[in-house]
Amino acid sequence: MGFGAMRVTGSGVWGPPPDRAAARALLRRALALGVNFLDTADSYGPQVSEDIIAEALHPYPAGLVIGTKGGFTRPGRSWRADGRPEHLRAAIDGSLKRLRLECIDLYQFHTPDSRVPFADSVAAIADAQRAGKVRHIGLSNVSVAQLEEAERIIAVVSVQNEYNLGDRASEDVLAACAQRGIAFIPWYPLGAGSVLRSAKVKRVAARQGATPAQVALAWLLAHSPVMLPIPGTGSLAHLEENIAAAALQLSAEELAVLG
Ligand SMILES: NC(=O)c1ccc[n+]([C@@H]2O[C@H](COP(=O)([O-])OP(=O)(O)OC[C@H]3O[C@@H](n4cnc5c(N)ncnc54)[C@H](OP(=O)(O)O)[C@@H]3O)[C@@H](O)[C@H]2O)c1
Repeated sequence: MGFGAMRVTGSGVWGPPPDRAAARALLRRALALGVNFLDTADSYGPQVSEDIIAEALHPYPAGLVIGTKGGFTRPGRSWRADGRPEHLRAAIDGSLKRLRLECIDLYQFHTPDSRVPFADSVAAIADAQRAGKVRHIGLSNVSVAQLEEAERIIAVVSVQNEYNLGDRASEDVLAACAQRGIAFIPWYPLGAGSVLRSAKVKRVAARQGATPAQVALAWLLAHSPVMLPIPGTGSLAHLEENIAAAALQLSAEELAVLG
């Protein structure tokens, strides 16, 4: 179970969180509970999530993997893709500086930019990898065809797409990841909260004496061996609840109910 650090920012993933010290404490607690993968991006805040990770956790403990992303900008709080090689080069340097790293363990191309050839964006990140600034490369918000296109340029170690009990549009991408043995990182693992309102999730949760969030996360882990959920929260209680879901075993019957 990883942790998605998008929500250690202000409302609308914009600006600082209401309580910066509490956000730092949340990140430290995640590690204390055994999380060793954090997902972030330069666009969260923007810059705030990466800054807070470094404030809270640097110097980083051995074994912690921080995956960040680049390829989005935040003009006027909106989200705009920017996959130009010059933007990605500057974004990688910015993330290195904020995270106080010499090399980023996992750098994910946040989203294809329809105005820039996908291969040009991927090649810019490959250049950074050759320069020793990036160890591994992942993709986000891609199709199977885009995964295959990237693989002609780089070794892809992970794909991060929207995926949860209620939205399985990326089932084909998950299957492609499983076939390759690379990580699939489902964003919105709780459907940003919507999965928690599902009647069948509530039914299984009641049977298990667990919460709906725990059932949604346990279902993801049971669904594929390459699944790496990164539930996001700004709440310590939700963090503890979400991480405990890694130990929840759903029966074959319960998995059938969830579909
Ligand atoms: N690649 C991409 O394009 C992309 C897009 C979106 C997100 N992401 C990544 O994916 C991560 C996960 O996505 P997410 O954080 O938006 O969505 P999520 O994990 O599906 O849901 C988070 C929402 O659910 C609530 N929540 C969390 N745990 C809960 C619990 N146990 N019980 C009840 N409510 C709970 C949170 O509110 P509270 O704060 O109140 O707990 C928050 O509103 C992000 O942190 C980010 O790292 C990537």
